[in-house]
Amino acid sequence: MTVKTVVRAFLFSVFWAGGTSADDFHQTFEARCMKCHGHSGDFARRMLTLKDGNVLGGEEQHLRPFLERHQGGLSTTEIALFLDTFKTQLSSESFFQDRCYTCHGRAYTFVRLNLIQRDGVLIGRYTGFDTQRFLLDHARLTEREAEWMYDRLSAIWLDSR
Ligand code: HEC
Ligand code: HEC
Repeated sequence: MTVKTVVRAFLFSVFWAGGTSADDFHQTFEARCMKCHGHSGDFARRMLTLKDGNVLGGEEQHLRPFLERHQGGLSTTEIALFLDTFKTQLSSESFFQDRCYTCHGRAYTFVRLNLIQRDGVLIGRYTGFDTQRFLLDHARLTEREAEWMYDRLSAIWLDSR
């Protein structure tokens, strides 16, 4: 296995572990964190780093104890959900950086300017392309990567509103 394959396998495991409760995350983040930290994806990129599979804060602080106390504290379940979501946000950002950035720039900006959700699915704002289908034949993505990317773009879209 090449380093790239290992990294990719890791990214997918991160996604599959964390992809089920996006709505819970967004509701809680919006209600309790957004007024100070803004949109969660941007916040994660600015303040947090991913190292050996752990999401760390400033000066490589481990966040579990921090989040138990910070601003009234989060429950154990919420903390697990938050750390999973931050991890997914950080890793999809680096995938986009590797494979899409040269043509599309930053993921957040690309999604906000070019995509829109209609009837629950993403389409090109100006092209009307069905994004999910488009990705299957774009940028040499495998089918699995295309599905993963589609879910990530959907999450970024949700986050960018
Ligand atoms: C009233 C404002 C406020 C709210 C609400 C708030 N935070 Fe913070 N948060 C801060 C401040 C201030 C800091 C410190 C920034 C710094 O380190 O200079 C911070 C720092 C952080 C850090 C970085 C810790 C580190 O080690 O770098 C994380 C992670 C964080 N907040 C998560 C959250 C989460 C998750 C929520 C919602 C449950 C939340 N915050 C709600 C004000 C807030
Ligand atoms: C070599 C340049 C290049 C790379 C790399 C690239 N794209 Fe594209 N992409 C384009 C071009 C050019 C278009 C314009 C539409 C077309 O192909 O007809 C496009 C269109 C798109 C669209 C459709 C937008 C719309 O308005 O409907 C999506 C979604 C997309 N790209 C996602 C990605 C993702 C995700 C990646 C990384 C995995 C990526 N692209 C990598 C060049 C690139």
